[in-house]
Amino acid sequence: MHRHLHRAEDFEATLLREFLAAEGGFVSGSALAKLVGVSRVAVWAHLHRLQEAGFVFEAVHSRGYRLIGQPPGVSAPLVRALLMPRKSAAPPVLFFPSVDSTNEEAERQLTAGRAAPFVVLANGQTSGRGRFGRVWHSPATDNLYLSFGFRPKLPPERMHLFTLWMGLNLCELLTAYAGIAPGLKWPNDLYFGDRKVGGMLTEARIDADQTRDLVFGLGLNVNGMATAWPRELARSATSLAQVKGEALDLSRLAAAVIGRVLDAYAQFTEGASRDAVADLWHRYDLLAGRKITVVQGTQPHTGVARGIDNEGALLLKTDTGRTLRFRAGEVTIQKGG
Ligand code: BTN
Repeated sequence: MHRHLHRAEDFEATLLREFLAAEGGFVSGSALAKLVGVSRVAVWAHLHRLQEAGFVFEAVHSRGYRLIGQPPGVSAPLVRALLMPRKSAAPPVLFFPSVDSTNEEAERQLTAGRAAPFVVLANGQTSGRGRFGRVWHSPATDNLYLSFGFRPKLPPERMHLFTLWMGLNLCELLTAYAGIAPGLKWPNDLYFGDRKVGGMLTEARIDADQTRDLVFGLGLNVNGMATAWPRELARSATSLAQVKGEALDLSRLAAAVIGRVLDAYAQFTEGASRDAVADLWHRYDLLAGRKITVVQGTQPHTGVARGIDNEGALLLKTDTGRTLRFRAGEVTIQKGG
């Protein structure tokens, strides 16, 4: 079958997909040439480009090529290849070996008019950021740093549950990956036990009562080891590899995350019901029944976490029996809470 592929990136993803399908076996040069509709010389040139990107091929006369090595860290051609069999067209994946912040880059792309959705993926960030302007420790090669650019054109009040919905979907995905369930710490943190494994940062531009540009960023600790982290992180964070006891293939995880987030986004804009959020919330609520302090502005409030309301606001039952509701804020879990 001949496809009309135009960009080198698409050729390379198509070639890689064949190598993945062959599972380490040989693929003949003429089969590859036929698949992408170019000459064998052109195939060779694309393989050469992939080699320059860190892929290792073995070439054996009369048998063809086989893939025997891939680059360290996350690989954009591999992520593109893994996204290809999706039912809907795969979005562009803009890859940066290093970038200031994938959220920042996604915002620049939206402002410059790039069609949404798209994905910004980086191997490392120089100014990775978290909520409240905090730094997101973003060393190269170990972890996932990615952001999605969307243009939802929905009224802002329709977006209240957005980050929670994404977080719940990511919890489901990570359960499958890690074999144990993470928890979602309201409003945007992913935890295993009492250690943070990832954080989400949603940033929106609202115009004339519409959420016009939306950036959804995710930082996930994947293969990092606590021994290499700054001391305060080593105390409070973990990685998927630490939970699972083995390193994960970053590109496969990236493709799975991208697929899941895009599906979740489609469901959300089609009106994913509050019931769906409520259902999943019970399964992953890290705070349920625990003694916590919520700081909103400068004011701390202590009490027991009582889930969320149907707008995603956190409910807190104070010692005096009052129930407080928080649309935003920062939560600390009390010792023994
Ligand atoms: C938090 O825990 O406060 C949210 C952290 C979000 C970090 C991710 S990493 C990819 C994307 N780019 C950024 O600069 N931040 C988000």
